[in-house]
Amino acid sequence: MDKINAIITGIGAFVPEYILTNEEISKMVDTTDEWIMTRIGIKERHILKEPGSGTSDMAVKAVEQLLKKTNTSPDEIDLLICTTVTPDMQFPATANIISDKVGIINAFSFDINAGCSGFLYGMSVASKFVTSGQYKKVILVGADKMSSIVDYTDRSVSPIFGDGAGAILLEPTTEDYGFVDEILRVDGSGRNHLHQKAGGSIKPASHESVDAREHFIYQEGQPVFKAAVKGMADVSVEMMEKHNLTNENLAWLVPHQANLRIIDATANRMNLAREKVMINIERYGNTTDGTLPLLLWEWEKKLKKGDNIIFATFGAGFTWGAILYKWAYDAK
Ligand code: UT7
Repeated sequence: MDKINAIITGIGAFVPEYILTNEEISKMVDTTDEWIMTRIGIKERHILKEPGSGTSDMAVKAVEQLLKKTNTSPDEIDLLICTTVTPDMQFPATANIISDKVGIINAFSFDINAGCSGFLYGMSVASKFVTSGQYKKVILVGADKMSSIVDYTDRSVSPIFGDGAGAILLEPTTEDYGFVDEILRVDGSGRNHLHQKAGGSIKPASHESVDAREHFIYQEGQPVFKAAVKGMADVSVEMMEKHNLTNENLAWLVPHQANLRIIDATANRMNLAREKVMINIERYGNTTDGTLPLLLWEWEKKLKKGDNIIFATFGAGFTWGAILYKWAYDAK
């Protein structure tokens, strides 16, 4: 029997309408457009403002667009995986809520939380369901309403994050395209530098936890920055060496969008020209699980069948990794 490969056959995405600019952030905390642009590289981010709306509402928009673009009916979907760090609720899984809202009824669904590497880990997991031969249409959706856990009185965190969602459809092929290789890593001791202190089982929500602002992102920027630069570059370079890839035969780097300086450092270690690096951090900020699919969505028309692509991420956990992928279609 021919080997089954998993390929991406479509991309959908959504960002909310409201744009939060550096000028507006400068009115909330002691910062400037110049500091944010030079230290992080972000000009603006989209924020979900509608009361009562959550991560699933953005994910639903991305999935509906994906189904329309790929001419797929919700009842054809076998599995929907959502990667998020800002689930609608502690339980049930946001994937279950998305499936219900979209009308996906002949399927199963669950969430993955791997910090900013969620979508990367998710691609690994989702592709295995396809290559097993058992499932034919799998949706992976990465979505985060980061504004729900950002402390807008903390200047070291408030400029970084934005809200957004992106979804891909994975299907089988016996042609030589799709997921080629992966290097996925974790160092759980890194949790000390980036986490949410309260709201979990160690420290359930209480009046004290709210008063202490412990339901927001806690981040020690410098150790995260150092580990991100090393982690993302190490696995990306390792992947290039393993597959004899160079600036000539690697078409694209699709890096997590946390800080432009981390992206540049990774591309430099890979000896990769800037025009081969997908970057949209300036307009969206760090949307956590949304960054990789939002990049694919914006670059879809430029991607060519046979392009070698490296996806690379680093995030809370610490989690990081690189995936090598061979693009399978020319966009219409
Ligand atoms: O995707 C999840 C993974 N997360 C990341 O990858 C984030 C990694 N870390 C970073 O991107 C950077 O560390 C930050 C953007 C968070 C911070 O940049 P930095 O260059 O590492 O700054 P720093 O934390 O070393 O702070 C330098 C100075 C400090 O002032 P003092 O103590 O030197 O007087 C900060 O208080 O910059 C100050 N600062 C700011 N100043 C103006 C911190 N945030 C701001 C701000 N505006 N927004």
